[in-house]
Amino acid sequence: MDETRIQDRSGAGAPSLAELDERPPGREARIAGGVAMPMAHDSAARHVSGAARYTDDEPELPGTLQVFIAMSKRAHACITRMDLTAVEQAPGVVAVLTAADIPGENDYSPVFGDDPIFPPMTGGGAVVQYVGQPLFAVAAESERQARRAAVLAEIDYVDRPAAISIDEALAAADAAGGDLLPAYEVTLGDAAGALSGAPRRVKSRVEVGGQDHFYLEGQIAVAIPQEDGDIVIRSSTQHPSEVQHNVAKMLGLPDHAVTVELRRMGGGFGGKESQPALFACVAALAATKTGRPAKCRLDRDDDMEMTGKRHELRIDYDLGFGQDGTILAADFAHAVRCGYSSDLSAAIADRAMFHADNAYDLKAARIHSRRLKTHTVSNTAFRGFGGPQGMVGIERALDEIAFVTGLDPLDVRKRNFYPAPDELAAVTPYHMPVTDCVIAAIVDELESTADYRARRAAVRAFNQQSAVLKKGLALTPVKFGISFTTTHLNQAGALVHVYKDGSVHLNHGGTEMGQGLFVKVAQVVAEEFQIDLDRVKITATTTAKVPNTSATAASSGSDLNGMAAQAAARTIKDRLIDYAASRYHVPRDQVVFAANRVRIGNMEKRFCDLVGEAYLARVSLSSTGFYATPDIDYDREAASGRPFYYFAYGAACSEVVIDTLTGEYRLLRADILHDVGQSLNPAIDMGQIEGGFIQGMGWLTTEELWWDDKGRLRTHAPSTYKIPTANDRPDDFRITIWEKGKNRAATVYRSKAVGEPPFMLAISVFSALTDAVIAAGDGRAFPRLDAPATPERVLQAVEAVRENREP
Ligand code: MTE
Ligand code: MOS
Repeated sequence: MDETRIQDRSGAGAPSLAELDERPPGREARIAGGVAMPMAHDSAARHVSGAARYTDDEPELPGTLQVFIAMSKRAHACITRMDLTAVEQAPGVVAVLTAADIPGENDYSPVFGDDPIFPPMTGGGAVVQYVGQPLFAVAAESERQARRAAVLAEIDYVDRPAAISIDEALAAADAAGGDLLPAYEVTLGDAAGALSGAPRRVKSRVEVGGQDHFYLEGQIAVAIPQEDGDIVIRSSTQHPSEVQHNVAKMLGLPDHAVTVELRRMGGGFGGKESQPALFACVAALAATKTGRPAKCRLDRDDDMEMTGKRHELRIDYDLGFGQDGTILAADFAHAVRCGYSSDLSAAIADRAMFHADNAYDLKAARIHSRRLKTHTVSNTAFRGFGGPQGMVGIERALDEIAFVTGLDPLDVRKRNFYPAPDELAAVTPYHMPVTDCVIAAIVDELESTADYRARRAAVRAFNQQSAVLKKGLALTPVKFGISFTTTHLNQAGALVHVYKDGSVHLNHGGTEMGQGLFVKVAQVVAEEFQIDLDRVKITATTTAKVPNTSATAASSGSDLNGMAAQAAARTIKDRLIDYAASRYHVPRDQVVFAANRVRIGNMEKRFCDLVGEAYLARVSLSSTGFYATPDIDYDREAASGRPFYYFAYGAACSEVVIDTLTGEYRLLRADILHDVGQSLNPAIDMGQIEGGFIQGMGWLTTEELWWDDKGRLRTHAPSTYKIPTANDRPDDFRITIWEKGKNRAATVYRSKAVGEPPFMLAISVFSALTDAVIAAGDGRAFPRLDAPATPERVLQAVEAVRENREP
């Protein structure tokens, strides 16, 4: 034990434990990698060197089959004949899988039971509801053989009317008398009365497009049959427990027969919250039918055509306000494009409503939401979970209020913020008192550090002398609610082992998708035991160690799993304290853990030595930990309550320049001030802020999903779907973590969730583009501008304001 060297992540020589032993007593020693330290992502070196293993990198077992999923070519049709004889006879084909092969339930949906794995063939045929819907699967010796075989299928379709766009979905719903999911409404006060009494009104519409996740690692699952019909699944999923449950249900097995594991995803962004169950089910079915391991791995085009995306929203807004821009009432009507099935749309559309206010006290409000069915992929979770779309509505409205009142948009925004924490709390449209609103302080600070007023004047001066290029500037806030709005999901479990050499094995229900959850939770455990981070082994997520987990989502990964892991570590630490106190006859409070050592009365021991002793004394050195978020309670029936434990805040100031001849633009500079509470890891948090902002910018500017009138997605590859690259990062990018940040809610070390909130900082880019287009029209008209504001849309908006007409 004495010679154990502490592994150093950089590979450079680190002190041995024996050297640490010689540290003079009394000198403040600090562990390497505790809470609040800017530790690199635990896999950073492996990510860049290619040594990090993703599901597809795990060595394949001999005999592994490759599974290809054949997709519907029609948006809405009845399949009257599906002859797979030629597919079955094709070279290399081992099995062809259809609905008839499914022993249990033919469904992989998260909630509502409306996502068939394969369309069930009944007497009249099978109904398909989007181009790309799985029809059957081919398991073959190679992927190429499986693909080649699949095209040999003979399929007869009888087309049915398809609704592709929001307009078509609204028409179909109104004719058929029903939406996909029931409409929902939240109200605060008498919005209609306050609107009609308001001195001024803006009433308009903004369309907010969807977004493909474009995770670098596509959807994948590998199923490995075990003895007795059990099955192990490796799945790239944010939600291993749901994959487990869906595979078990599909095979007609109890959950205990299925184990799901993964070390990491190459990005999830919400796209792996519900949808991975499909690929796991298909792989599991192939494995069960053939007795061989089976891998189902999508290529980029198939992934984009087959899987759900961010919801597109049409937002109609009507705001009443005073001459000084103070909002008196607001009405928002959301039309949400859900796709062919429910998936998580109910909760996503709810969250869009919960963020229709963003950081503003609306005083009186009505927010109405319709959840529409289209014959396209089933839209799903995506960073912000509907919140970003809801926020675009109000930020757009505020830009319009500023335009019609002639006030600076920042002044209008500041005038309407929720009151600061020590002021009398205002309530949200869903009646939650806002008691932690630090947005005014953040915006004031950013206004000054970003030099907003001087740059406003500079932008105006530039625009006066520049005919072709026009600049725009905007500073927008973010307030984002933290917790799953489905209250029961706010729970987590962890499992911690301390081995007798004092090294620690950490496991919890959270999944790693690049966001740095694992290193943060490991820092919490290192801090608890007061040992170096390298002494804590981060391990793969598996349903066999921590059961019944929620998806790693809603930005709550570290809030929930950090607390659960801390609880597990505390249990073990308590046992060590009990042991030391009784063995050495000191009061419990004289057993103190500090920097790889434990002080016991006036004696000091190395942590590993105390652990070794405790083991010999037969003390249990393993524990589970559990956490459930307190104080949250939302009554959906009453549309009232506290869905969120707290809010995360931030603000961004963006400056753009547009070319009025082509519509092209660049983000010149972005300043961000973001509240992460007391950061668990500022290096990771900076990465989340930067990445979130750029991903949000892609959503609002260049990433355009385009379905043709036959329901075929025409943007299913990077050639046609433009995600931001390193080149789109502004040359001048200043990100600051808000130093005064501290969570008023009792989260793990008073940190705040950071995964999703920064995404919405990018609304400042959209507002800045609006500002530039206004300048292009010499301030005569407020442009109609929908998202994404592609160069094409910007050009149309410029021409429209110059000719003073609708684009
Ligand atoms: N960051 C990276 N690098 N990759 C991802 O897939 N997903 C985002 C965010 N940040 C994501 C990411 C989403 S949608 C969520 S909900 C959170 O991370 C989830 O992780 P957390 O709860 O641990 O923050
Ligand atoms: Mo994130 S959209 O909650 O996975």
